[in-house]
Amino acid sequence: MSSLPAHAPSPSADVARIAGSARLRGALSLPGDKSISHRALMLAALAAGESRIEGAGDGADVRSTAAIVAALGASVERLDYDGRTVTYRVVSPGVDGLTEPEGVLDCGNSGTSLRLLAGLLAGLPMTCILDGDASLRRRPVARIIEPLRLMGAVLHARRNDSLPPLTVVGHTPLRSIDIATPVPSAQVKSAILLAALRADGRTTVREAVATRDHTERMLRARGVAVEREDAPDGRVAWTVQGGISVQTVEERVPGDVSAAAFWLVAGAVHPDAELTLHAVGVNPTRRAIIDILRSMGADIEERPGGGVGAPLNATADGVGEPVADLVIRSSALQAVELGPLDVAAAIDEIPVLCLAATAARGTTVIRGTGELRHKESDRITGVADGLRAMGARISIDGDDLRIEGGTALQGAIADSLDDHRLAMTFAVAGLLASGDTIVERPGSAAISYPGFFDDLERVRA
Ligand code: S3P
Repeated sequence: MSSLPAHAPSPSADVARIAGSARLRGALSLPGDKSISHRALMLAALAAGESRIEGAGDGADVRSTAAIVAALGASVERLDYDGRTVTYRVVSPGVDGLTEPEGVLDCGNSGTSLRLLAGLLAGLPMTCILDGDASLRRRPVARIIEPLRLMGAVLHARRNDSLPPLTVVGHTPLRSIDIATPVPSAQVKSAILLAALRADGRTTVREAVATRDHTERMLRARGVAVEREDAPDGRVAWTVQGGISVQTVEERVPGDVSAAAFWLVAGAVHPDAELTLHAVGVNPTRRAIIDILRSMGADIEERPGGGVGAPLNATADGVGEPVADLVIRSSALQAVELGPLDVAAAIDEIPVLCLAATAARGTTVIRGTGELRHKESDRITGVADGLRAMGARISIDGDDLRIEGGTALQGAIADSLDDHRLAMTFAVAGLLASGDTIVERPGSAAISYPGFFDDLERVRA
């Protein structure tokens, strides 16, 4: 183990030492939403002319997408940045002017880059290889290859078409399809919708569970009609007409609710806390963490508006994104029972929700967490191991988790597995625990939340 930085580890630091904090106070502006930032850059590549994206997340994942958009022949300029958020100006020749990149397209750690770009590139007259780091090379791609092949796309991947690198051989015309997604995944849905823009007719994607709808909202904001049909059983169908061009927009990205989640849990669990989170995206398909914590008794005040300007503000016709300032105060949490629909809705927040459950009164049960094994790490095993080291009582039964609450956590060594969401979950656990917590491989926090460890020091009050 190398030297222990007191806080704010650089991406190369091996460990972070986090001491418990007596109080939590402060107001934070979070990095721009990662999901929206990726999409804004990709859609800017498809639109001829100048797009401006204010407040994009400046984590490593979004940077990977920005570099790929540049490699495809768009000019990508970083106008303004403050360490966590960046304003981009993208000038693109438009979808028909993009050029075949010379090298491999490096998605780094980013599953969203790889899967959405596979759909975007499938109908273009070029061959591209999408690759990434060791974690990304372990993440499944059959879920996008199969539907895209039904559209006529040609894709190949390692290990019998199951793992990256992924080769997308464009050049073939795409046909429209009507398909149900094999797993509840906004990445799969979005890959199909992006490919559908190049297909010959109307493509419909049916979801058993409504996953995040940023692609749909953002396509509408860019002049592409996206129809939504809701079935009484909660299924949602999205239809897009191929051959419609994507227009440029100027937009502002809301703060990332998945980043806000760490402070919502920290504030709710800590006995002396009040934290304000500015301009957080509260899209109905992303806000499950807020509603679940409230159902557990969290005192979360929501002030709609959050000062974010047009054109991303939500409108009734499903364009734009709602935002709010959130204030979280110390709360007495109760256990909760969650099922697969909740897991799909709060997919990125389940690890930090496990931390909240350790402090709640009663036993929390989270059923159907299997998808979490296919994230940047096996997040089920990872979060259980790290929190157990700190004294949590967590059992795993297949894809179900049981977390006994009322546990006072003690500082310990917790391995993030180089997974940003685990690194931040354990760092917040360290703030709440007695003694010092050592988070191993903390630098991955900068994948989605550059400046996280600075904010952690700031809220110590
Ligand atoms: C994302 C969708 C989710 C989520 C990921 C971002 C997106 O993945 O976990 O962090 O931007 O569409 P899945 O669609 O694979 O569940």
